[in-house]
Amino acid sequence: MRIMKKQKIINFFVTYIVTCSVFIGFCNTSVTFGKEKADKAAEKPVAKEISSQADVSDQHPEIEEGLSCNDCHEIKLDAATTATQVWLYGGYLKWNAGEGIMPQDKIWQHIVTLLGGAKQKRTFVLATALNNKPFTTTVDASLDPDKKVLYVYSEKGTSKLDHIKNNSSVSLNWHKEFKDFSQILCLQVVGKAELFEGTAKEYNEGLLTYEFEYAAAARKMSVEQWKTMMKQNMIMQKITIREVTFIDSSLRGTDYRSQQRWKRQ
Ligand code: HEC
Repeated sequence: MRIMKKQKIINFFVTYIVTCSVFIGFCNTSVTFGKEKADKAAEKPVAKEISSQADVSDQHPEIEEGLSCNDCHEIKLDAATTATQVWLYGGYLKWNAGEGIMPQDKIWQHIVTLLGGAKQKRTFVLATALNNKPFTTTVDASLDPDKKVLYVYSEKGTSKLDHIKNNSSVSLNWHKEFKDFSQILCLQVVGKAELFEGTAKEYNEGLLTYEFEYAAAARKMSVEQWKTMMKQNMIMQKITIREVTFIDSSLRGTDYRSQQRWKRQ
């Protein structure tokens, strides 16, 4: 009886000590764990914003193949000294800085004159990008001058649609073949593209602007027949324009520079 009691007391202490040391050990590891985590965070170098002119130095962390600078860094474009900025706003040729810049609404009107409105088309080069690899295709687009969007309809299954699905940033270029410096006309668009299937209500909205009737005529189909086929086989790209920059040498001799830029507010 006495022995039993002694044994019980010993058992109790053994259990107590083991439990306590496990607990203390646990506390210890979690403290160490937390500290390691904090140390790691403090050590990890941050990729700061860099200028578009920046170069990597010998001390730069190794860059794995396939990564580009903007996978880690935000890249700021120099807003004051790049050539385009000077042509648009700086001291250039006969212009003093800040002179010869069209008001934004006038720039937009000029863009509409160049591109035409509903049921007119321009053939653009469209640039998309996937995994840092740019890709260009040729597209016909019609402009909605009020919404300031471009509509494009293209066959299902093409690479550009895959690109846009993964990266909605697009850029388009429309230009006249260069002849001489007195007849330059080119226009760059930057925007975001959205894709719509034939069943979407936006699809019909786009068809009010996009010139597709010619294609029905070319196929000797009625407009309604062709529309049905388009809805089955084509995807609409609605490109919301963010910025347009043009060079139009026909503006020479006016109160305005031949380079102008419109930006969505
Ligand atoms: C994998 C991510 C990664 C990529 C890709 C990368 N960098 Fe870096 N870069 C870093 C990190 C992280 C630092 C900070 C290093 C440090 O502080 O020790 C850094 C630092 C720099 C710096 C010094 C920044 C400063 O303090 O002014 C420059 C300049 C730079 N990078 C340029 C580039 C350029 C140019 C490219 C593309 C050719 C590039 N980096 C690609 C991660 C990257």
